[in-house]
Amino acid sequence: MWEKELAVAGQAARAGGEILNRLVGNLSRILKKGEIDLVTDADLEAEQSIISILRRGFPKDAILSEEAGKYEQVSQRTWLIDPLDGTTNFAHGFPFFAVSIALQVEEELVLGMVYNPWMEECFEATKGRGAYLNKTPIRVSQVKTLADSLLATGFPYDIHQNSKGVLELFRRMLVNAQGVRRPGSAALDLCYVAAGRFDGFWEQDLQPWDTAAGAVIAKEAGALLTTFEGESYSPYLKTILAANPFIHEEMRRLLEP
Ligand code: IPD
Ligand code: CA
Ligand code: CA
Repeated sequence: MWEKELAVAGQAARAGGEILNRLVGNLSRILKKGEIDLVTDADLEAEQSIISILRRGFPKDAILSEEAGKYEQVSQRTWLIDPLDGTTNFAHGFPFFAVSIALQVEEELVLGMVYNPWMEECFEATKGRGAYLNKTPIRVSQVKTLADSLLATGFPYDIHQNSKGVLELFRRMLVNAQGVRRPGSAALDLCYVAAGRFDGFWEQDLQPWDTAAGAVIAKEAGALLTTFEGESYSPYLKTILAANPFIHEEMRRLLEP
């Protein structure tokens, strides 16, 4: 099941990734969507290429993509696309960015693919079939306590206006974990939880295309995924907490108001 979807998503992710690799360090234009929220020619060109490959493969499916918005189609199936997750990194030539593609069928996320073209790492998963990095199975870490954990997070684009709550949660994690990183691509952060490179990840105010693919991959690798309050994860909710099952509850308690 989902073989054709995986093959077409793989083709689209690689086509998008080639464009990103070609343009990194070679940008002619960087626009600002907000004070610190960027969009580049690479976001737009990669998005066009990804969408055209998915549409050729699945003309009846709906598409929700960060820069293009929603293409309305009569379909129970929606592709959630972030053509470039980690735009700020990309714009500075910091090599931590990815193409993120997920498929939602009715209410359920069934496929996730996150491709970091710079490191040639392709993370993928389909529902019930485990998670893979370059076709090799991956699992979450076995780290048992927060004190021994390496965590990741990110900060929302309105941080200049609204930093208090976010920084308080960051402080709590920092003083309880072994280390906290802020790598700058939520999709890859989730994949790193899946691969056991991080033990947990939390962030607020992300969009569906930021987390959908990485969430499928993390879940299939054995992560627990909820909101900060402990509700089941949905790409349409405001907060996300993904962690190995040993430390999830310890993190959740620290995220309480
Ligand atoms: C951003 C990245 C970042 C996260 C931001 C996202 P973008 O996506 O995932 O890690 O902290 O909140 O918006 O804008 O680079 O696609
Ligand atoms: Ca993003
Ligand atoms: Ca993006």
